[in-house]
Amino acid sequence: MSLFSQDNKSAFDAKAEAQRIAYAPVAFQACRVLRTEGILEAVQKSGSAGITLAEVVAKVSLPRYGVKVLMEAGLGVGLFCLNEGRYTITKLGYFMLRDPMTRINMDVVHDVFYSGFFDLDKAVREGKPAGLKSLGDWPTIYEGLSSLEPQARESWLAWDHYYSDQAFPAALPIVFANRPKRLLDVGGNTGKFAIQCAKHNADVRITIADLDKQLALAKANLQQHGVADRVDLHAVNLLDESATLPGGHDAIWMSQFLDCFSEQQIVSILRRAAAAMSPDTRLYILELLWDRQPNETAAFCLQQISLYFTCLANGNSQMYHSSDLLGCIQQAGLVVEEQRDQVGLYHTLITCRKA
Ligand SMILES: C[S@@+](CC[C@H](N)C(=O)[O-])C[C@H]1O[C@@H](n2cnc3c(N)ncnc32)[C@H](O)[C@@H]1O
Repeated sequence: MSLFSQDNKSAFDAKAEAQRIAYAPVAFQACRVLRTEGILEAVQKSGSAGITLAEVVAKVSLPRYGVKVLMEAGLGVGLFCLNEGRYTITKLGYFMLRDPMTRINMDVVHDVFYSGFFDLDKAVREGKPAGLKSLGDWPTIYEGLSSLEPQARESWLAWDHYYSDQAFPAALPIVFANRPKRLLDVGGNTGKFAIQCAKHNADVRITIADLDKQLALAKANLQQHGVADRVDLHAVNLLDESATLPGGHDAIWMSQFLDCFSEQQIVSILRRAAAAMSPDTRLYILELLWDRQPNETAAFCLQQISLYFTCLANGNSQMYHSSDLLGCIQQAGLVVEEQRDQVGLYHTLITCRKA
């Protein structure tokens, strides 16, 4: 049975979940503040003995009123149990406090998405990232990445890296099985993959193609890791249809890159990749595809992330269904040689060659 093919909820459960969604922004902020103010930590540390409201107030040095309403909101969310005046942490409370994925997702939602999402309706109507003005004055978020406020940039990068970091070690042996001598990383961002490639294989020479401002960040990281002499930087804006990609590479790598573009733009970029490929070049596309996820929660996250692209990033791209992306690959004159799902945990790696 495929994901999302059945309505399994009872009417009661459906109506209850609708209320959780109705108050989701409130519950979200309550959970976040319970974490950042150390309240979840205090309850978790109290173990099975639990902790009273007065004891939490003393530990976190906040007014009793604020702690009380937050903890009662947390009870409703399901973060705590309350027995005879003592709060203990639940499994949900534990993950809210300790799970890195939850923390990274919540941080990016708060620091990058939250205010801009007020303009989602406008973004949908106009096909423009109407919420982006909450972060800065750029046509797309990519032009602004290097100048985001430090907190927003840190949360954005932690989010982007969290997912690609899981997939890179799994993808490296697949890419290097063909022994590429020259590799082009399109949308190489902070240089993370290039650094891993350079450390994985002593002979490979890498080119990072990205927006010029982004390359400045990559350059500093490459120097810090002592691999700058094996990495060339190619400044390019691929939204400019006349911009080409450099040839002479055995492997072209695009990780979490094509989701930054509309289907029409993807076809154009892939055609330019094809023009830069020889019959022996392999193009590796690493993407998070919502229909290839191991469970509905992972698919749910990607479907919500699509709206980040709508509202903030560029107004016209998304986390794609595999059939959308495979259609673009075919239109660009490329042939899929291999597809592997769950590279890392959630990524699909598509290997292509020229038709
Ligand atoms: C979501 S990040 C992916 C980074 C990295 N490949 C990874 O897997 O973590 C997308 C990258 O594409 C770059 N990018 C976005 N729009 C671009 C454009 N029009 N031309 C060139 N690069 C672009 C961004 O600067 C950013 O580094």
